[in-house]
Amino acid sequence: MNREKALELIKEHITSEHLIKHSFAVESVMRELAKRFEPENEELWAITGLLHDLDVDQVDYRANPELHGKKTIEILKQENFGNEEMYHSICAHNQDTGVRIESKMDRAIYAADPITGFITAITLVYPDKKISSVKVKSIIKRMDEVRFAAGANREAMRSIEQLGMSFNEFAELALKAMQGISELLGL
Ligand SMILES: [Fe+2]
Repeated sequence: MNREKALELIKEHITSEHLIKHSFAVESVMRELAKRFEPENEELWAITGLLHDLDVDQVDYRANPELHGKKTIEILKQENFGNEEMYHSICAHNQDTGVRIESKMDRAIYAADPITGFITAITLVYPDKKISSVKVKSIIKRMDEVRFAAGANREAMRSIEQLGMSFNEFAELALKAMQGISELLGL
């Protein structure tokens, strides 16, 4: 897996700064999850996280939600980049594609995607808006506040438990991962 090439693809296909930060955030969480669940595939997991939303600026997904993910695979195949495991996870992260969650990496990205936005939303309500100030217990507490960051899919985040990791551990892992790239995230 060539991260340099993946970064070029990000630059080429993603225009919104918000989405680029989101891509880095999901990469960081996927890298830490790989160390825990499939260390031999750390680069694959990280780069799959980095590229999972590559097509978001390309198609009107409100009209065609099932295309999000599939279009990314088209781009990656044209570029001769990635492998079938990566393609499967990228499609499975959007359940509208109809691709089922099967592998550990599928499960990991399904849970990692929403927790990054959730942690960002929590950071932004801290007085200093710094991710270094965020505590794991605030993540746990906010999970039960259904109106807070309502778009963050709680069920998807909690589904990490199917890999044998508690939600608390996952929250801690994701927070640490994102804290490690706070400058890149502007948080
Ligand atoms: Fe995403």
